Amino acid sequence: MDYKKVIAERIKEMTNLETETIEKLIEQPPQPDMGDYAFPCFQLAKTMRKAPNIIAQELKTTINSNGFEKIENVGGYLNFFVGKATLNEVTIKKALEEKDKFGYSDIGNGKNVIVEFSSPNIAKPFHVGHLCSTAIGNSLYKILSSQGYNCIGINHLGDWGTQFGKLIVAIEKWVDEEALERDAIKELLRIYVKFHDEAEKDPTLEECARQRFKMLEDGCEKERILWQKIKDLSLKEFNKLYERLNVKFDSYAGESFYNDKIDSLVEELKQKNLLTESKGALVVDLSDFNMPPCIVMKSDGATIYATRDLAAAIYRHNTYNFHKNIYVVGTPQALHFKQVFKTLELMGYQWADDCVHVGFGLVKFEDKKLSTRKGDVVFLDELLDEAVSRSLKLIEEKNPNLENKELVAEKIGIGAVLFTYLKNNRERDIIFSWDDIINFDGETGPYVQYSYARGRSILRKAEGFNSKADYSKLKSKDEFELVKLISQFNENILFAIEKYEPSIVTRYIVDVAKAFNKFYNQYPIMSCDDDTLKAARLNLVEATTVTIKNALSLLGIEVVEKM
Ligand code: ARG
Repeated sequence: MDYKKVIAERIKEMTNLETETIEKLIEQPPQPDMGDYAFPCFQLAKTMRKAPNIIAQELKTTINSNGFEKIENVGGYLNFFVGKATLNEVTIKKALEEKDKFGYSDIGNGKNVIVEFSSPNIAKPFHVGHLCSTAIGNSLYKILSSQGYNCIGINHLGDWGTQFGKLIVAIEKWVDEEALERDAIKELLRIYVKFHDEAEKDPTLEECARQRFKMLEDGCEKERILWQKIKDLSLKEFNKLYERLNVKFDSYAGESFYNDKIDSLVEELKQKNLLTESKGALVVDLSDFNMPPCIVMKSDGATIYATRDLAAAIYRHNTYNFHKNIYVVGTPQALHFKQVFKTLELMGYQWADDCVHVGFGLVKFEDKKLSTRKGDVVFLDELLDEAVSRSLKLIEEKNPNLENKELVAEKIGIGAVLFTYLKNNRERDIIFSWDDIINFDGETGPYVQYSYARGRSILRKAEGFNSKADYSKLKSKDEFELVKLISQFNENILFAIEKYEPSIVTRYIVDVAKAFNKFYNQYPIMSCDDDTLKAARLNLVEATTVTIKNALSLLGIEVVEKM
């Protein structure tokens, strides 16, 4: 039962506030003696011109108190104490009935949401920043889908731009075909780095590259074929990673996809009187908004990154009529998106407001900021391999006889990395330290995975046990805390959507795992000699495993039954 909703509806009947407003005002007090939910009457006090505690008192005497143990007025707050037996029963039964759909809702039905994520650059390594975007985007996709939104996952591949001119020049001059077959991205990176080294000595190279890109944009065949080859080779490697991470996209429409949509865009910008010339380039002046101009076309007629983003947003709106158009891209690109969204707004598109940049911080690995320019990168395969082999080592210490150790280690290792990316507020930088990631204690993926496996093992042992459950016997504070957390699953998902913040789900699930550990370490389950209490506890264990499994799946992480 969604208590916030119930409370909000009951308060709405007695006030002039909207249910949504009330729901937003409702708090969950930090201390149990302040109730499970609290409604502050201060906002009402302004419109009703009465003291908050008088309003609280009036509400208290008239409100329908069904399902609550008691309702108190303390200092202008209306504190609700949920009836424990009811909450226990309703919550546990709901989880057991809904299973894989527990936590889900249909509030997003009929709404299309674009989640653009991952978007690596062709011919460059898929680096940890892209992994971050992949983890957050994939998770938002799943979180939104769980609430009925129709999501369209777009991988906006960086498959266009002047770097392809450089790569074409570099391939013709320096490529080692055999190395290209063996490990395309490494070889493409090598010659790309070489291009920059050589260009420092020979400035004409840059000009050559610029021309070759222009020819590519104009559709010249030789350049097209080379470009396609580079793209195919890169995608083959990226897809291996996506498979390993179990990530899927609905569309791979990347930057090149918009090439034939640029002319009409420029035409439209001209007609709307938005283009000005600046040093030969065509730009949208954004000085009124304290932003540098948005460059649409360079002096040689070539388009840039922003041009393609403008075309992409318009295309997406025409194609999907989106409710939201979400870009999961690092915060260093915040200004770029502000410029693009502002330009769309100036073009008269009201839906510019529905475009959202979901930024995230830097990933720092062994204190190095990762960049591809100098070839100073951590390759993602290697990162994941390392995580898996560390997990395997840990499993070997803990449970050397486990079947399918390698398979389990793969899931734990990859889950642990994803968990790390999804644990902190996304705007915060992530410092990647193995000891904090592959660890069965602490707030880690393996810790949550382990809690799940523990729960499953209890349930396996209880197979065949059959008794009616008496939920009113789950009386302890620890049991009730766990039930209460489970009952708040859906609210947490909705909150994660509101903030575009998968970390809300990640932290929530850490809380559930902690409460679960406290519960099963302190209360006898299998050895409980009261059958109806034992059944209630076992059902609580199962409700917990359902919650952990679903929450992890919203993060793109698979559970293991044994570890
Ligand atoms: N390919 C870009 C990069 O690696 C990210 C693309 C972000 N998406 C966009 N619509 N601009 O930096």
